[in-house]
Amino acid sequence: MTEAQYRQVTITRITEQVPGVKTFELAYANGGAIPYRSGQFITFVFTHHGKEERRSFSISSSAQAGESLAITVKRIDNGAYSRLLIDRAKVGDVLQTTGVAGLFTLPADALGKQVVFFAAGIGITPVFSLIKELLAGTDDTTAMLVYSNRNKSEAVFLAELDGLLSRYRTRLTIEYLYSDAQNLARARLNKALVRTLLNEYAPGDRSKMLFYICGPYEYMRMVIYALEENSIKDEQIRRENFNMNTRPVVVAEPPDKAPHNISFVHNGTEQTITAQYPETILKAAIRHNIALPYSCEAGRCGSCALRCTSGKVWHSYNEVLMDMDLRHGSILTCTGYAVGGDITIEV
Ligand SMILES: Cc1cc2nc3c(=O)[nH]c(=O)nc-3n(C[C@H](O)[C@H](O)[C@H](O)COP(=O)(O)OP(=O)(O)OC[C@H]3O[C@@H](n4cnc5c(N)ncnc54)[C@H](O)[C@@H]3O)c2cc1C
Ligand code: FES
Repeated sequence: MTEAQYRQVTITRITEQVPGVKTFELAYANGGAIPYRSGQFITFVFTHHGKEERRSFSISSSAQAGESLAITVKRIDNGAYSRLLIDRAKVGDVLQTTGVAGLFTLPADALGKQVVFFAAGIGITPVFSLIKELLAGTDDTTAMLVYSNRNKSEAVFLAELDGLLSRYRTRLTIEYLYSDAQNLARARLNKALVRTLLNEYAPGDRSKMLFYICGPYEYMRMVIYALEENSIKDEQIRRENFNMNTRPVVVAEPPDKAPHNISFVHNGTEQTITAQYPETILKAAIRHNIALPYSCEAGRCGSCALRCTSGKVWHSYNEVLMDMDLRHGSILTCTGYAVGGDITIEV
């Protein structure tokens, strides 16, 4: 994506949630609301030490609940972009974005289901957005939230969540967990506590339930293991990973390293390039000045997801696309390679 293709957004409102965490409401700089789905994220582009960098932030608002796009940012010590937003950004500032993306969204068939959310710390942002969408959207879907924080003073959206609790008494359950709690049986989340909470709040047929997890890497890994031990299938679990520093040390290699043609189809026009391992589809596209969305470049965020309409793509790493997505042709260009022949991708 060239600079001319970035969109500019303006900060229209800033609210401090707790010290070091602020919510920023955004609109297009030339006017108009930014379209989005609950659970997605928006990616910003900025220059740091002369180099172009990108950071993504989950959307904490819900269009279904009538809210304009908002992000909620936690200040990271020594963080280049989060400190810029928390310490210096003001209403009226203009930010550059590559747009909204992400697959941490509710499926069309979520209606009538029980949805269980696990969030820790600032990982609450996309979960808060999803819960609002789910509760605003239908009368028979129920939500359970397990929300972990180090202590109560760091927990974001407490008043709003309590407001939802009293408004949707029969459809929402929340278990707040604090690491500093006196009662150690309900403090830090562990596998045994996941089992206890599931038995307490989500009895019934778990094969129909959906599970959403967002938080630190180790937390997410523990919850996923715990769910699997409780017979929850991988395809029932959606995860959103904020931490891009957890890439596996061993990177797999594709079964086919020959050059293949990649045709990008966009609005009826087609452009074909050639790529060969170790150049990913994304890297080859950038080399040819083809504007594709991306953020983490590590198979973790989903912003580069596109649809492959013919041929086969092999991924060196994929943490976001589920089997169902892959079956429908979704691919990640940042870790994807054409294998076994030429491919066509819709942009
Ligand atoms: C899909 C997605 C959604 C995200 N949503 C949100 C969100 O809703 N709210 C939010 O606040 N952030 C969110 N993030 C994280 C955000 O993109 C940045 O990574 C974060 O703000 C740090 O960026 P920075 O430029 O300030 O720090 P950097 O300059 O990138 O990092 C500075 C130092 O801090 C360390 N560091 C980076 N991130 C963390 C962290 N989370 N905890 C501890 N140390 C860290 C780095 O390793 C480095 O040493 C999301 C990330 C992704 C990929
Ligand atoms: S850019 Fe993040 S998964 Fe590809």
